[in-house]
Amino acid sequence: MEKVKVGMIGAGSLANSMHYPSLAEFDDVEFAAICDLDENKLNNSGDKYEIEKRYTDYKKMVSEVEMDAVYIIMPPHHLFDLTIHCLNNKKHVFIEKPPGVTAVQTQSMALTAERNGCLSMVGFNRRFIPVMVEARRIVEERGPILQCSATFYKNTMSPTNPYYGGAIDVLTCDAIHAVDTLRWMGGEVNALASDIRMLGAEYCNSFNSLMKFHGGATGFLLTNWVAGKRVHTFEMHARGISAFIDGNDSALIYSDNNSDPVVLNADDVAGSSESRKSYGFTAESRHFIDCIKEGRMPDTNFADAFKTMELVGRIYLSQIH
Ligand SMILES: NC(=O)c1ccc[n+]([C@@H]2O[C@H](COP(=O)([O-])OP(=O)(O)OC[C@H]3O[C@@H](n4cnc5c(N)ncnc54)[C@H](O)[C@@H]3O)[C@@H](O)[C@H]2O)c1
Repeated sequence: MEKVKVGMIGAGSLANSMHYPSLAEFDDVEFAAICDLDENKLNNSGDKYEIEKRYTDYKKMVSEVEMDAVYIIMPPHHLFDLTIHCLNNKKHVFIEKPPGVTAVQTQSMALTAERNGCLSMVGFNRRFIPVMVEARRIVEERGPILQCSATFYKNTMSPTNPYYGGAIDVLTCDAIHAVDTLRWMGGEVNALASDIRMLGAEYCNSFNSLMKFHGGATGFLLTNWVAGKRVHTFEMHARGISAFIDGNDSALIYSDNNSDPVVLNADDVAGSSESRKSYGFTAESRHFIDCIKEGRMPDTNFADAFKTMELVGRIYLSQIH
């Protein structure tokens, strides 16, 4: 395979800020075609990335243009039919998080990918943030992670659900980043207890959980959407070493009781201050393209994403009273 031919469905805001520019800089990727219902967006991105074949009907695009893979970047409640169609047409598929609205949708997509021999990937970019990857590598040199935490705080004071008019809940749509990263740090979850609350709103906007992982580690999820500002941080502890990470900024790594941490600057580790690079978006696309070229399943494939969606469901079911 010389260049991986990619069809793009969705020319919206995240797609344009992260996915189009990342793919465009890869020498081994070619945009085969682009599709969006909105002709302005279609032509803006089509012109910018010099994509000749333009469609408003994704089925027509998939049937008329030769391509290896499709990026389907759009709101979660619009995702399912398009993803199943592309998989049934033997295309490898990349989607953003969340991987559908329910765990059932994610499982159906995983099974359809498997049946068709397709590779799949969900953009859980936190796992690909260079400073996160480096911090985990340094901590795990001392042994397995014994305790980890993921915080995700936002200030969304809306009394009504801020996600697509209420099509999907806050935990599944967005705080899922913290849930997925806990699985990446700690492994699968044996048992958990959670406190979920509606803080001045008609929807759940605070999700806190204590988790016991199969390997014995302890995990903490701490999130609410009525915080002072957006804060999204992680901790990883192994014997004699602790990493405190803000993926947007830096990782502080303390070891052996030294009060001076090793400081990893997120931009320095990424080699760039562009957020698509320092925040893992370019690296996740690189992983997807490499997996296609090597015929191996991406780490954040649909079957793996189903486990994160299942954990989201278990958080709701483990409410303590
Ligand atoms: N990883 C992250 O940190 C992160 C951050 C923000 C958003 N996201 C995710 O990105 C996704 C949204 O991406 P976006 O911001 O580019 O979306 P957007 O809403 O800005 O754009 C979606 C585009 O899809 C098009 N579209 C909808 N249905 C279509 C169809 N059937 N055929 C063709 N085009 C269609 C729309 O016209 C629109 O242009 C969401 O899943 C969101 O959760 C992830």
